Amino acid sequence: MIKVLFICLGNICRSPLAQGIFEHLTMHQTEQFWADSAGTSTYHIGELPDDRAIAIAQKNDVALKHRARQIQKEDFERFDYIIAMDRANYQNILTLKARVSNTTEPKIMLMRNFDSTKGQIEVPDPYYGTPQDFEKVFEILQSCMQNFITFLREEHLS
Ligand code: 4NP
Repeated sequence: MIKVLFICLGNICRSPLAQGIFEHLTMHQTEQFWADSAGTSTYHIGELPDDRAIAIAQKNDVALKHRARQIQKEDFERFDYIIAMDRANYQNILTLKARVSNTTEPKIMLMRNFDSTKGQIEVPDPYYGTPQDFEKVFEILQSCMQNFITFLREEHLS
């Protein structure tokens, strides 16, 4: 099974959306794929996703049931891929990883590495934005995720 962890700052906007879209596109955690999400901060631990994230997800038939949690050392052993939403969180992940001595090496990548419209490398933080910012985030994630899943299938299942 291929295990993927999506990471943002609060784990209530971008990464739970990424997880939900991934699950939706892979038909809800089949045997082939498993996804989870986490934040690098402690700000919202235990909370459901932001209402605006839930709303845009619902509009697209994506259910979000995740409760926010913080990334932990064990995640570097549990997951094959750790996908960061922006550079700051990518850096946070590397800093944390440097403090962990583990035997397995997850691939740590930026979500927008999988964006076919090259140029932008971050999924913008919508937390202080509008519902339209959440729509934009949803669109970015949806197109990146199609490419990411295609990549995973080619890499591991062909
Ligand atoms: P996320 O968005 O990282 O996409 O979940 C944020 C959520 C909360 C905060 C910042 C970003 N915050 O500062 O509380």
